[in-house]
Amino acid sequence: MTPTPVPGLRLDHLADLGRSLIPYAILAGCLLAVWTIAGVLLAWKAPRVWWYLYGFWFLRLRMARSWKRLCLNANLTAAGQPHRSRYAAGGPPIMPLLLRVRPRRNGATGLISFNAGQVPEQFIEAADAMAHAWRVHAVRVAGSGRGRVKMTVLHDDPLRGTPGKLRTLLKEPDAAPAVEDLVATVGTREDGEPWAIDLGMFPHWLITGATQSGKSTLINAAVSQWASRPLALVGIDCKGGMELGPHAPRLSALATDRHQAAILLERLRDEATRRMQLCRRHGQRSIWSLPRSVRPVPVIVIVDELAELYLVASRAEKDAALSATANLLRLAQLGATLGMHVVVAGQRVGSDFGNGVTALRAQLGGRICLAVNDKETAVMTLGDLYPDAVEAAQHIGPHEKGVAITTADAFGWVRARSIKFPNEALDAAIEATAHLTPSLPGIDHPVLF
Ligand SMILES: Nc1ncnc2c1ncn2[C@@H]1O[C@H](COP(=O)(O)OP(=O)(O)OP(=O)(O)O)[C@@H](O)[C@H]1O
Ligand SMILES: [Mg+2]
Repeated sequence: MTPTPVPGLRLDHLADLGRSLIPYAILAGCLLAVWTIAGVLLAWKAPRVWWYLYGFWFLRLRMARSWKRLCLNANLTAAGQPHRSRYAAGGPPIMPLLLRVRPRRNGATGLISFNAGQVPEQFIEAADAMAHAWRVHAVRVAGSGRGRVKMTVLHDDPLRGTPGKLRTLLKEPDAAPAVEDLVATVGTREDGEPWAIDLGMFPHWLITGATQSGKSTLINAAVSQWASRPLALVGIDCKGGMELGPHAPRLSALATDRHQAAILLERLRDEATRRMQLCRRHGQRSIWSLPRSVRPVPVIVIVDELAELYLVASRAEKDAALSATANLLRLAQLGATLGMHVVVAGQRVGSDFGNGVTALRAQLGGRICLAVNDKETAVMTLGDLYPDAVEAAQHIGPHEKGVAITTADAFGWVRARSIKFPNEALDAAIEATAHLTPSLPGIDHPVLF
């Protein structure tokens, strides 16, 4: 029996159709080739553009494809509605939602919305699993309101190269100090934002890092900016002035041993009391609400090597150490609204410093932890505020100079790298600004310094 031909579907028709599609196939092939070549060229010549046009969308695809498996493997699902029947197990697991995933210079940001009964820590702990599944350098997860965590995806390590120069221009000195003067940009954060030590937002800072990790370089970069503004800088360097000596022409006072430090801190405490009285006379709670004509100049007290203040070798030094540390604590407790700020640096901070150091730490809201040799210092610097940052700090290698975990403005902590700020640049900044050094009556008393 001969097959009945299907009307309109003959072989020669199919061949015709195939022939008519050839130009479209060639066009599609050419477009694909152009798209691929453009991608390769962009990845080579303009990686940032490549990221926005190509890389981010590949990442988005990987995220969408792996999300369900990732949530199941990392236990990020919530139990479903129990089945009506009392004998049946719970319903299918409920997936957390990935929301607002947007491309950023070094990766992407997004939100994860999770379900009742889940906690942010589950997602923070799963950050490595996410980085592995999406084949990116790192994923940082931090709490962001109830039921949500904020996620930052870094497609490569943005801190590999050293930021070369300060991103904010040095400001010309102004007659009256302003809160903006308290911000010093010292490097770049992992999320691409400038890294700022903002004494307006966090009035006092603790900087820790093993020897040669980059503490002084960081302080120098900050001082070079503060120096050009109407601010008084005071140094306490009980290593005999080895670290802060180069800043001396721009410092309103410098103590180079424990005895001098005790006297200087006592005078600073008295200055804090005078400022409190001034505020009270004007019915204000902060120097920033005082009329400009009577507003005292903000003071930044920089302590390089905290251990030199706390740890004493002999009984004779004990009184000076006790007085210095008690007044430093007092200054940190009172200073924020009085325009008196404390920036404390040390190679390590430990329980052997005594109880006073924990009280001081509680006042130092800004934290920076560079590479450290011992876990205790990382825990002391970050553990009370950002427990999940302690491990990140311990991953900073000794060769990663200037890399730190630091207090961030919006979401807790962030990894950052300071600029490489050579000594010559500091010398030039100090020389250019030495004439701006304010006199602090009662503090820069010549008898001791
Ligand atoms: N961000 C950076 N990029 C590259 N190199 C850096 C950076 N920061 C610091 N360095 C280099 O690391 C070395 C040590 O820096 P620094 O003197 O600031 O360390 P430190 O922590 O103050 O050490 P110490 O505790 O011994 O005083 C210097 O040679 C400095 O040039
Ligand atoms: Mg140093």
